[in-house]
Amino acid sequence: MEQTFVLVKPDGVQRGLIGEVIARLERRGLKLVGAKFLHVSRKLAEEHYAVHKGKPFYEGLINYITSAPVMAMVWEGPNAVAVVRQTMGATRPYEAAPGTIRHDFGLTVSRNLTHASDSVENAIAEITLWFKPEELVSWGRDTDRWIF
Ligand code: TYD
Repeated sequence: MEQTFVLVKPDGVQRGLIGEVIARLERRGLKLVGAKFLHVSRKLAEEHYAVHKGKPFYEGLINYITSAPVMAMVWEGPNAVAVVRQTMGATRPYEAAPGTIRHDFGLTVSRNLTHASDSVENAIAEITLWFKPEELVSWGRDTDRWIF
């Protein structure tokens, strides 16, 4: 079973969209296995976005992601990496397909609401960077017990 790393970025938190993001991922059938609400340090931001160091938007990106709290999560399911990227939509909200989060709530690339791992390899690296193993919860759905 695949896992992927998801962030509701500061603009998503400030606009009250944490629930909206979680609801959409839950409705797709993905399972939440880890979550934490935190103010990102510059060190963590720089490690997370190391691949973009030196690019023109890098400083602005680090300032943005450290400017206010974020919601960091790990979601699990078949093809979770691709499924979550599809639900988020293209990096630039003006290119994102209707029905995606970035289309439905976003306007500009520098305020695109969410982050999601773009490969299984990066998902593993990002989950390891943001979460300790004991912060991930292994659980199964037990509908016979809870739904009548
Ligand atoms: P990237 O990893 O290319 O996109 P994604 O978040 O979809 O995986 O870029 C990381 C973030 O950097 C992106 O979400 C927003 C920001 N960014 C800019 O501000 N300007 C840009 O031109 C690009 C490509 C990204």
